[in-house]
Amino acid sequence: MVTRDENELLTRAGPGTAMGDLIRQYWIPVVTSDEVTAGDRTKRVRLMGEDLVVFRTKSGQPGLMAEHCTHRQASLYFGRIEDSCLRCPYHGWAYALDGQCIDMPNQVAGSQFEDKVRHPAYPCRESGGVIWAYMGAEAEPPEMPDLEWCLVPADHLLVSKFFVECNWLQAMEGGIDPAHVSFLHAPLDTTSESQLRELDKAEAGFGLTMTMEKAPLLDTLDTDYGVLIAAGRRAGNGNRYWRITQFHMPFHTMPPIEVQYDPVYQAHIWVPSDDHNMINWCITWSATRPITESERTAMVNGLGIHILDYEPPTNQAYGDIRLRSNYGNDYHMDWEAHRTRAFFGVAGVGAQDRAIQETQGKIYDRTQETLGTADIGLVRVRRQLVNAALALREGTPAPGLDPASYRIRPASVMVPHEASWSDAARDDLVAEVTS
Ligand code: FES
Ligand SMILES: [Fe+2]
Repeated sequence: MVTRDENELLTRAGPGTAMGDLIRQYWIPVVTSDEVTAGDRTKRVRLMGEDLVVFRTKSGQPGLMAEHCTHRQASLYFGRIEDSCLRCPYHGWAYALDGQCIDMPNQVAGSQFEDKVRHPAYPCRESGGVIWAYMGAEAEPPEMPDLEWCLVPADHLLVSKFFVECNWLQAMEGGIDPAHVSFLHAPLDTTSESQLRELDKAEAGFGLTMTMEKAPLLDTLDTDYGVLIAAGRRAGNGNRYWRITQFHMPFHTMPPIEVQYDPVYQAHIWVPSDDHNMINWCITWSATRPITESERTAMVNGLGIHILDYEPPTNQAYGDIRLRSNYGNDYHMDWEAHRTRAFFGVAGVGAQDRAIQETQGKIYDRTQETLGTADIGLVRVRRQLVNAALALREGTPAPGLDPASYRIRPASVMVPHEASWSDAARDDLVAEVTS
């Protein structure tokens, strides 16, 4: 049972909040590397409740700083990008990437006032074709995570993102809820070969799961960095089919893949934009081979986790990743399919998840929920987040900052009923990273 205070603690991630402070201990994805060009122009982003601009200096370094100038709050969205700084268009103050004011051309020469002025700015690094920022208070950011997808060649990887108009946690809770696939993502007739094939085409890999029982046995295992969430369905011949989701603090999830496929892994990062909006990062990668062109085409058709059907871009923060399907048009719900074929008539796994998450309410009220045994995964994750946020306030370092702790994969295993899923999956859950 979540209390009102716990719900607030879990969901509020703005500056000065306990959860915000926790998330700021970790590297946060901002934009993909190709979204900013050296010396070109800035983009607005809103992250962790802060209005920011991201850009790339003429010398090629990514920068992230507060949108509004420390002098008199002019928008640095119109800032002039120079070799190694961003200059305000109003009176010309210039800020280095660490926020230090390095030039104040409207001040009387020799005042040295610029030495005393520091503009909010955050260190950035690039990895996996993504610009990441460290928004925490420590002087030294942690090492970059050894995520497998950040270390594979670029053609083994597909990264996309879309904007979701609800709190980050309820969106992530869809990613750690293995029971819902048998409903939200299911056809009405799970004996229909053609309907199951439709699901497999979506690269969601639910086809096999759909043929099994709808009420899986749920189990969790705490790890040093988060939680393993296992859902076991009876699979005939005395076997149980366990699908294992990885949760890595504070916002990485990796849904399980089906055993029969050449492993192509998937992951999400659930990033707070502010308390009422978030960015869903979607990642697909192969450890061993390039993603083929036809796979890439299939993956971006909107039936799987990647959705690229955006509204025309605007100059708002993340104004270029707003999806055409939305609350106002019922997420392009096909009511006929909803009645006759699909458990939920919105097409596409990611779109189905988003339609549910956004309509739970901006920040859904967890004091009103009624949880059952199928919800133990998200209960465990919430507990870890609360514990880590409170412990951080008492000076205990956040868990999962060790780069090696990110060397993980999701897994699925078929084992005899009484066998241990965690023993059987032990090797599969670890990524062979050669950095
Ligand atoms: S408002 Fe930016 S330099 Fe004056
Ligand atoms: Fe889902």
